[in-house]
Amino acid sequence: MKNAKTVFECAECGASASKWFGKCQVCGAWNSAVEVEKELEKAEKTAKVKRIAPVYENDVVKFSEYEVGDTARETTGMSELDRVLGGGLVSSSVVLLAGEPGIGKSTLLLQICKTLASEGRKVLYVSGEESRDQIKLRAKRLEGVESAESLYLLTDTNVASITEKADKLSPDIMIIDSIQTVYSESVSSAPGSIAQVRECALSFISKAKNEGISIILVGHVNKEGGIAGPKVLEHMVDAVLYFEGEKIRSYRMIRAIKNRYGSTNEIGLFEMTDSGLTEVPNPSEMLLSDRREGVSGSCAVCVMEGTRPVIAEIQALVTSTAFPAPRRTSNGVDYNRACLLIAVLEKRLGFKFYTNDVYLNVIGGLRLDEPASDLAVTLALISGIRDVPVESGLIAIGEVGLSGEVRAVTEVEKRISEASRLGFTKILVPHRNMAKLNTEKYPGVEIIPVRSIYEALPYIK
Ligand code: TYD
Ligand code: MG
Repeated sequence: MKNAKTVFECAECGASASKWFGKCQVCGAWNSAVEVEKELEKAEKTAKVKRIAPVYENDVVKFSEYEVGDTARETTGMSELDRVLGGGLVSSSVVLLAGEPGIGKSTLLLQICKTLASEGRKVLYVSGEESRDQIKLRAKRLEGVESAESLYLLTDTNVASITEKADKLSPDIMIIDSIQTVYSESVSSAPGSIAQVRECALSFISKAKNEGISIILVGHVNKEGGIAGPKVLEHMVDAVLYFEGEKIRSYRMIRAIKNRYGSTNEIGLFEMTDSGLTEVPNPSEMLLSDRREGVSGSCAVCVMEGTRPVIAEIQALVTSTAFPAPRRTSNGVDYNRACLLIAVLEKRLGFKFYTNDVYLNVIGGLRLDEPASDLAVTLALISGIRDVPVESGLIAIGEVGLSGEVRAVTEVEKRISEASRLGFTKILVPHRNMAKLNTEKYPGVEIIPVRSIYEALPYIK
C-alpha cells in the first residue's frame, strides 16, 4: 500500500506511538507494541468513521421527558447464562464471550441456538473456525440443535460478505465464532491483528445498533488470559463474559466482567458432558459433593456470588518447612489476604506458621474475594496446623480484623439459609450480626455468635 506509514499500538490499551516501544507509556504493559497501518487511522478520522449509535438517535432530547421502552430480553434456554447476562439476551446488544480454546464456547453457543431459534426468531451462526461438517457433527451430540427450525449456518470470514449475506437473511440474532478469524479487506494486516479485530467488531456493532440485531462475538484469550486483541474491544461491546474452568475437570464457569444490562457479580455454572454442557443450578451441592468430614485443615465457607450464596470448602495443608523461608501458596484465596490472616494467627494466637509451609486451596476453582470468608480460612489454617478437624456440620461466616476480632458481614441471612438447606448444623456468625437475626427461623441449626477468633477456637477439637 502506498504511503502507508506504520504506527505502533499497545495491544493492551490501544494507545498509539510513532516508534516501537518496549513498555507502554500509558498502561505500563511490556512487549505489547504491535504495528498497525496508518491507513486505518486516516480512514477512521475522515469520512469512513462508523457509527455505533443508531442513526435515528442523534436529536437532543430533554432527559426528564425521554421514556425508555422495555428492554426486550430473550431467554437463551440456559438459565445459568441468562443470570450472567442479567436476565436474558437484550435485543440489539453485542456480547463478547471470551475463553481459552476447547473450553466450550462453540458448544455453548450452538446449544443456546435451540431456544433462540424458536418462536419464529432467525439465528445466523457464522463460523470462521470450523467446517459445516464439523459443526453439524457437533450438533448431533447436542439435544435438539440439529432440528432447530430457524437456525442458519454460514462459514465465512470476510466481514463484507458476511454482512451482505446477513442483510439478505435479516436474522434476529447473529453469532460470530470468532472475531479473530474475520477480516476486512479495507485493512491490510492479518486476521486477528488489532486493526482487523477493531474494524470487524465495529462493523458488527454498528449493524447490531442500527438494525436491532443481537450479536454474540466469540473472542480468543491470549497467553496471559486477557482477551486477544485490543482492550478497546471490551469498551465497544455491551457485555464481556469470560468462560473459564479447568479443562481436566468438567466444570465450567461463566462470569461477567462488564455488563451494561446487569450485574457483574453473577456466575453461571456448567458441567461438560458427552451431550454438551449441562447447567449446575445448585453449585453448593456440586462443590461439597466430594467433601469428607473429620479431616483436618478443612472448613466450609459461604460466599455471595452476586445474589446467590455459594458454599464451598477451603482446605489448608500445613507442613513443617525444609526451606529457609517457608512457602505459602494460595489457590482461590487472595495471596496477600492469606498472608495477612496467617500473620494475625501468629501474632494474636501464637501459632508458629513461620516454621511451616502453607498451601491453601478452594475446591472447585471458586475464588473467595469476599472478606466474609476470612473466618473459615483462619479455622482451616488452625485446624491444619493443629492437625485436628473442625467439628462436623460446622460452617464459619465472618471477616477477621487485624486484632483477631470477627467483624460483621452482609447478607448473613441468605448465607445461613443456604447453609441450613445443605445440612450444616452449627453456624459461626459475627456477634454484631446477631442483633438483626431471627434465629427461630432456622430450626435444628445452632447459630453461634463469635466476637473474635479466640471464641471460635473451641470448635476445632
Ligand atoms: P468447543 O466448544 O469446541 O470449544 P471452543 O469453541 O471454546 O474452542 O469445545 C469442545 C470441547 O468440549 C472438546 O474438547 C470436546 C468437548 N465436548 C464434550 O466433552 N462434549 C460434547 O458434547 C461436545 C460437543 C464437546
Ligand atoms: Mg470454537
